[in-house]
Amino acid sequence: MAEPILEVRGLVKHYPLTRGIVLKKQVGAVKAVDGVDFDLGRGETLGIVGESGCGKSTVAKLLVNLERPTAGVIRFKGEDVTKLSGRALRAVRRNIQMVFQDPYTSLNPRMTVGDIVGEPYEIHPEVAPKGSRRKKVQELLDVVGLNPEYVNRYPHQFSGGQRQRIGIARGLALRPEVIVADEPVSALDVSVQAQVVNLLERLQSEFDLSYVFIAHDLSIVRHISDRVGVMYLGRIVETGTEEEIYEHPTHPYTQALLSAVPVPDPAARERRERILLSGDVPSPANPPSGCRFRTRCWKARERCALEVPALAVPAEFRLMSGPVAHDSACHFAEERHVVP
Ligand SMILES: Nc1ncnc2c1ncn2[C@@H]1O[C@H](COP(=O)(O)OP(=O)(O)OP(=O)(O)O)[C@@H](O)[C@H]1O
Ligand SMILES: [Mg+2]
Repeated sequence: MAEPILEVRGLVKHYPLTRGIVLKKQVGAVKAVDGVDFDLGRGETLGIVGESGCGKSTVAKLLVNLERPTAGVIRFKGEDVTKLSGRALRAVRRNIQMVFQDPYTSLNPRMTVGDIVGEPYEIHPEVAPKGSRRKKVQELLDVVGLNPEYVNRYPHQFSGGQRQRIGIARGLALRPEVIVADEPVSALDVSVQAQVVNLLERLQSEFDLSYVFIAHDLSIVRHISDRVGVMYLGRIVETGTEEEIYEHPTHPYTQALLSAVPVPDPAARERRERILLSGDVPSPANPPSGCRFRTRCWKARERCALEVPALAVPAEFRLMSGPVAHDSACHFAEERHVVP
């Protein structure tokens, strides 16, 4: 892997669960993110996939400092961002920007496009002094494929895809090195999704960006990612290159997720094996002991309830080279092709 621009270690975010309105007594915690490790290489795209509620957006918010972690380390170019405050924090935060899921609700309807895209300059005036902002904003609109003449229009005058371009322009305003995109195309029509994905890819090479790309659409993640992390209930259960994860999954959860990807070719659909998971995702306030996936796993044995599997190359694959030897948090990891 390229030299990491972001290193995440032991990242934890617990939201307190309280009872009572006046004396808010803490009765537990929602373990939204509960021990996440990954590296993001320079110029690379790391895809993060997983079912609703597994903690993807919480990871995103922690990375851009919209939330403070309960524990863990986020290093940007070797510097632990979680220890910074004040001016030093602002300087680093500039470099890690977010693109949000829903372009319909994430843009203030009462602000003009120019004010929305230029808003980050209010917090970082050093990037663009007042007199130069309009020009900068117009350049940004041009870069994302919007007419620079539109600066005085309002969000409702744009389509969903155009609004997401506005959100991307705002994300680029401070010339960040890392963009965290949380489901950036999920709210868009399928026909528009590819255009926005193509735009993100073009911007990546043009501005030398590194992406954390969060989505639950596995096909889009495969298309855009160099490496992929699969999340389940607050943890990453398997991680590897796009090829390792999609062609050689070894964690049962990844195998089940992939087996549910729609396959257009009817013959391939016939051949493929569907893995149906039983039961629901357990509550993150009370995750299962040992392996969190064991309550839905067809391979679970006693050991799985007792021992948390480490995210590492499983022992049976350690001596092999090639795509099967990648990190998988399973005591009984096994290679299995599920996508025809
Ligand atoms: N501010 C909060 N307070 C309490 N619990 C929260 C808070 N934010 C998120 N959670 C809980 O943390 C867990 C993870 O939420 P998160 O939004 O990170 O999931 P997600 O993977 O992004 O899901 P989705 O695919 O639906 O966007 C969920 O159980 C959620 O209810
Ligand atoms: Mg989310």
